[in-house]
Amino acid sequence: MRKLLVTGGAGFIGSSFIKYILNNHSDWMIISLDALEYAGVLDNLKDAETNPNYRFVHGNICNKFLVSDLMKECDSVINFAAQTHVDKSIVSPDAFIETNIKGTFNLLETALKNGIKKFIQISTDEVYGSIDEGYFTETSPLKPNSPYSASKASADLIALSYFKTYGLNVIVTRCSNNYGPNQFPEKLIPFFITRILNDKTVQLYGDGLNVRDWLYVYDHCSAIEKVLLNGRAGEVYNIGGHCEKTNLEVVKIILDYFKMDASKIEFVPDRLGHDRRYAIDNTKIVTELGWMPVMNFEDGIKSTIEWYVNHKDWIITAGCRALQSCN
Ligand SMILES: NC(=O)c1ccc[n+]([C@@H]2O[C@H](COP(=O)([O-])OP(=O)(O)OC[C@H]3O[C@@H](n4cnc5c(N)ncnc54)[C@H](O)[C@@H]3O)[C@@H](O)[C@H]2O)c1
Repeated sequence: MRKLLVTGGAGFIGSSFIKYILNNHSDWMIISLDALEYAGVLDNLKDAETNPNYRFVHGNICNKFLVSDLMKECDSVINFAAQTHVDKSIVSPDAFIETNIKGTFNLLETALKNGIKKFIQISTDEVYGSIDEGYFTETSPLKPNSPYSASKASADLIALSYFKTYGLNVIVTRCSNNYGPNQFPEKLIPFFITRILNDKTVQLYGDGLNVRDWLYVYDHCSAIEKVLLNGRAGEVYNIGGHCEKTNLEVVKIILDYFKMDASKIEFVPDRLGHDRRYAIDNTKIVTELGWMPVMNFEDGIKSTIEWYVNHKDWIITAGCRALQSCN
């Protein structure tokens, strides 16, 4: 039996992870801590509300007292809580420094004081920066290019220092781009889908040839489960699907589903400092922990599109929250 503190549990990946764990480990207990920022949607975990092994707490990872109280009940921490939208980090980076760096620091410090047995810091392939050819491994230098990725890289390094200096059992995971149900519509794939559902053009940055490696969210969850069970302290694990696609390819696949053509695409000026290609080598987690992604992109994107088509209420709720966050 394990007792997990999952931070950012109302967000896209955190909520998927909680559902995955509740489905696969009937004797594990989960406390979800989330500040319900604009991307946190409590409805994502509606089905879990009646599960006696699950509890939601509304609060901020920067709150020392609250975090300390919750950690007294737990043996492991999985930190998903973050500000996650690159565009927002370019316009107003403050919240990214506050949550992604200071919030992670607070969790680490509190974990150490409360004897937490395992601390998993959920990070991103974006910390390595852009690569034209080949793949980043866990030992590649960090060269983040946006305030978002720089804040995540900072948190990675602080987390790893807590292993080396204080012996806290910290593991960092760096995942590629996730997609699947419940992803906030500001992110690429749900952005395209919801624009189409709202009968708008599909806006694409620059020439649309930026490359991302796509992973279905529940494959990410199974990788984190492996890391939680058997990952080694002080290590970094890349989690990638080896499923590279240009943004233009992704748009065309989605347009095809709706039987629409490329005339729907509107090219807009490129994002500042837009990374051209992300690509990571996942050999370490595959060989060491026996993880493999199971969802192929064709099936994953189809079921993701269908989820959004069938959850228009969810899109409206998320859209309202996004609007409120801009006011
Ligand atoms: N989405 C991806 O493709 C991707 C890929 C690799 C890594 N990641 C990482 O995975 C994690 C989760 O990403 P996501 O896509 O689910 O993000 P998300 O934006 O959907 O969810 C983030 C959650 O964190 C919560 N949160 C924000 N600030 C908080 C604070 N101060 N205290 C408590 N809760 C707070 C939000 O309310 C939200 O529920 C992030 O750390 C992100 O960097 C994401």
